[in-house]
Amino acid sequence: MSKNFENVDVSVEFGGVKLQSPFIVSSGPLTYAAEGMIKAHEMGAGAVVTKTIRIKRALNPVTHIAMMNNDSLVNCEKWADSAPEVWFEREIPMAKKAGCVVIASVGHTLEEAEAIVAPAEAAGADFIELVSYTETDMLPMLEATIARVKVPIICKLSSNYPAWKDPVECARKCMEIGKAHNHKVMICAIDSVGPVLSIDVFKQGPKLGSDNGYSWMSGGAIRPISVRINYEMMKMDRNIESYGVGGVTKAEDALEFLMVGNTAVGLHSILIIKGMEYLKKLIVDMKKIMSELGYSKISDLVGSAIENISNKTANEPTIGEQESDIESDAKLQFTFNKDTCIKCNKCVNICSYDARTLSFPEMKVDRDLCRNCGACSSVCPTKALTSEVVKKFSITDDLQNYVGYFS
Ligand SMILES: Cc1cc2nc3c(=O)[nH]c(=O)nc-3n(C[C@H](O)[C@H](O)[C@H](O)COP(=O)(O)O)c2cc1C
Repeated sequence: MSKNFENVDVSVEFGGVKLQSPFIVSSGPLTYAAEGMIKAHEMGAGAVVTKTIRIKRALNPVTHIAMMNNDSLVNCEKWADSAPEVWFEREIPMAKKAGCVVIASVGHTLEEAEAIVAPAEAAGADFIELVSYTETDMLPMLEATIARVKVPIICKLSSNYPAWKDPVECARKCMEIGKAHNHKVMICAIDSVGPVLSIDVFKQGPKLGSDNGYSWMSGGAIRPISVRINYEMMKMDRNIESYGVGGVTKAEDALEFLMVGNTAVGLHSILIIKGMEYLKKLIVDMKKIMSELGYSKISDLVGSAIENISNKTANEPTIGEQESDIESDAKLQFTFNKDTCIKCNKCVNICSYDARTLSFPEMKVDRDLCRNCGACSSVCPTKALTSEVVKKFSITDDLQNYVGYFS
């Protein structure tokens, strides 16, 4: 890994505004007030999104946030628990004064957009972010906001079914409205995923205190859903300027969102779980990975994965549906580095076919049992075991069985 990672520039240009890093602390409890937003800015956040401002302040159910696995959450938290005037008079001006780039989140209806967006802009917000319960609410909210503010408007999309059947199509419509009015419209995808249900087995009832017991899921568990939606949106229109959010838990996750075309990346749950200071580590880790990959600035890597992804849509048959009698000649070629192996045996245990054995320092794979699924190398915490797809596997059977070590 390159030692010159300090020279990597992680600042980005987002909607015409320079952000000190691509990390945007998205709307949620951490941005409950100016104090939370200022802390995020001091830890290196490029921008902060206020907790969603609505006409009436929220009264949250008890309880409303719970941990799920070790990097995800379920929540039934409502919108901001302070009135709009508090945001206009205290929170937004105070955060602006401390140097934050502030995105004012406004929801969830047309009436609320009409009432809130102009005073939020007057209070100093650099962007307005619209969030709604359904796709159909978003478009009139956007029209009303365009008529009232000059700052760029971000439309936050959701994947929640059945209210949001097609977030990518909604992004297209939002962009079209922006173009028709010559107003900068941007996209954020996605909100927490749900509705979901989490049961507390000791209470033998729902974990959280919402009226119906349902909640919304966020954190690591939702990342592949969000990355897929962000990718499809970018494939549809590379000119969309957006930040992707959902499931960022480490720097590599954030790079996924940038590599499918986002100019910035949002996060929230992992900062609840690990604390706002974790942002500093994310920034350093991002610089290290960028340096390893040979990038010195973010804009050079934005969208870099898109052309390596097949052009098929999510609904075209891919996995398992195109049966063929001809066996693929692609196989995995494994590389093992004994110096970085920590003998955790995860690669051995994850193999469904019992194909792998580790008698340190020897790592073996039984090629007759191995089905080239790749789970073993994916689970290695130190990248001591890596794999690469090779099309023509020309090594002799003997050598195929022996992965060896290349240190
Ligand atoms: C407890 C909690 C409260 C949230 N409240 C809001 C909110 O008020 N408005 C909003 O637009 N998104 C809200 N979100 C969604 C986040 O901004 C984000 O879109 C989502 O959690 C996915 O990102 P993550 O996986 O990094 O947390 C909330 C998320 C959590 C966990």
